Amino acid sequence: MDRFDVQGGNPLKGEVHVNGAKNAALPLMAAALMGNGTTRLAGIPDLRDIRTMSALLRELGVDVNRTPDGTLEITPGDNGRIEAPYELVRQMRASVCLLGPLLARRKRARVSLPGGCVIGVRPIDLHLKGLSALGAEIELEGGYIDASATELIGSEIYLGGPHGSTALGTCNVMMAACLAKGRTIIECAACEPEIVDLAQFLTKMGARIDGAGSHRIVIDGVPELHGTEHQVIPDRIEAGTFMVAAAITGGDVTIRGMRTEHLSAVIDTVRRIGVDLETDGDTCRVRAPDALTASEVIALPYPGVPTDLQAQITALLVRAEGISVVTDKVFPDRFMHVAELSRMGAQIRKAGSSAIIVGQPELTAAPVMASDLRASAALVLAAMAAKGYTIIHRIYHIDRGYGRIEQRLNNLGARIERVQEDYP
Ligand code: EPZ
Repeated sequence: MDRFDVQGGNPLKGEVHVNGAKNAALPLMAAALMGNGTTRLAGIPDLRDIRTMSALLRELGVDVNRTPDGTLEITPGDNGRIEAPYELVRQMRASVCLLGPLLARRKRARVSLPGGCVIGVRPIDLHLKGLSALGAEIELEGGYIDASATELIGSEIYLGGPHGSTALGTCNVMMAACLAKGRTIIECAACEPEIVDLAQFLTKMGARIDGAGSHRIVIDGVPELHGTEHQVIPDRIEAGTFMVAAAITGGDVTIRGMRTEHLSAVIDTVRRIGVDLETDGDTCRVRAPDALTASEVIALPYPGVPTDLQAQITALLVRAEGISVVTDKVFPDRFMHVAELSRMGAQIRKAGSSAIIVGQPELTAAPVMASDLRASAALVLAAMAAKGYTIIHRIYHIDRGYGRIEQRLNNLGARIERVQEDYP
C-alpha cells in the first residue's frame, strides 16, 4: 500500500489540464453494455475505479480494450452473463449502475449489494423502486440483488429521497427505460452534468430522451440500441480540487480543459472565500489572496456546491481566519477528514451535518490517514499548505478518482513523493 510524503509550503504555479470525469465515465461504460456493436469512449481517465468497471464488464463477457490514445473500446456480445460479483462490487459502489443495463439488455441482473461506506449509509432503495416501477421483479438474497423482467414497461417514477434525488439511481432508471416498452417519466431526477452526458451518449446509441439536466426526464423506449462514439465530459470535481490546491497554497494556477458552467456554485463559493478567479469557457486562472475569508458553505445536489468538493473546501476554510461553517446536505456524515485535519492543527469540530471551523493561517504537518477518495484529496491539499513534512497513509483511495495526482501537482511546484510501505 502506498503513502504520500508531502513537503508543504510551496505555492503552486503554472498550468494543469483536467482529465475526463470518472463519475460520467462509469455509467457510460455500463450503458455501452446495452448497444449492439462496438462503442468507443474517448477521454476516459486511467483510474482504479475505471479499471474495476472494466474488470466487471469483462466478468460479464464484454470485451474492453484501451487504445494507446486513451479511448476505451467496448464490445458487449450477448452471452447471457448477468452476475457482478461481490469481490469487484465491494471495491466500488458505482458497480450498482450495471443493474439497469443488465436488466434491460439481458433480462436479468445479479449484482452484489454494495454494503456500507465511510461517507454514509448509502442505500439503493430508490434504484430498486425505479426498476420495480418498470416491471422488474427484485429479490435480495445472499447479499445479492436479483432482478429479472421478461419485458420492461414504461412508467411514471418519482426518484426523490430524504437528501434529494439520486445520481446513479437516475442513471439506472434512465438506462433501463431506454429499452422499455412505451414512455417513462422520471420526476425528481438528478440534474448533474454526468446525467446529461449519459443522456447524450444514450441518444447517440439510438435512445429517445428529453429533459436530461432538469428534474423531469421523459424517455420513449426503443427496441434496440447500437454502439457509438463519445467523448466524456471533463471532471468538474478534479477541476474544483485544483482550484482549491492553488488557493490553499497561495498559488497562481491556470486550469485548462474544464467546463466552467459545471462549476458555477463552486466558482461563486471560492470567490466568496476571497480567491481571485478569472474564467473563460474552458479555462480558469486561480490566484490566491493574501488572506482567505471565512464563509458558510452548504453542499447540495447540482447545481449547488457538490458534496464531492465538501472535504476540499473544508480544508481551504481551515486557513481562513474567522469562523466558517460547512454543511453537507447530500451525505450528512461525510466528515471523516475532520479528525485528520485536527491532527494538522485545524480547529474544527463536527456538529450534526456541519463542520464548524475556527480558521487560522497556519497548519502543521502530522502523520494522517486517508479514509475515502475526497477526504484523501483534502489531506493532500492541507499537507501542501502545512509547515513541514506530512505523511499520508492509505492513499490508494485517491488513486480511485485522481489520475497521477502527485505528478500533476509536482509539475505545479508541489513536493509529493509516493512511497511504497507495508501498512496494515
Ligand atoms: C454519486 O453517487 C457519485 N458517484 C458520488 O461521488 C457523489 O458523492 C454522489 O453521486 C452525490 O453527488 C458516482 O457518480 C460514481 P446518490 P450516488 O445516489 O449516485 C441518498 C465520489 O467521491 N440515496 O446521488 O451513489 C444517498 O444516501 C463519489 O466520486 C437514497 O436515500 O449518490 C445520499 O444521501 C462518492 N437512496 C443521496 O441520496 C438511494 O437509493 C445522494 O446519493 C440512493 C441514494
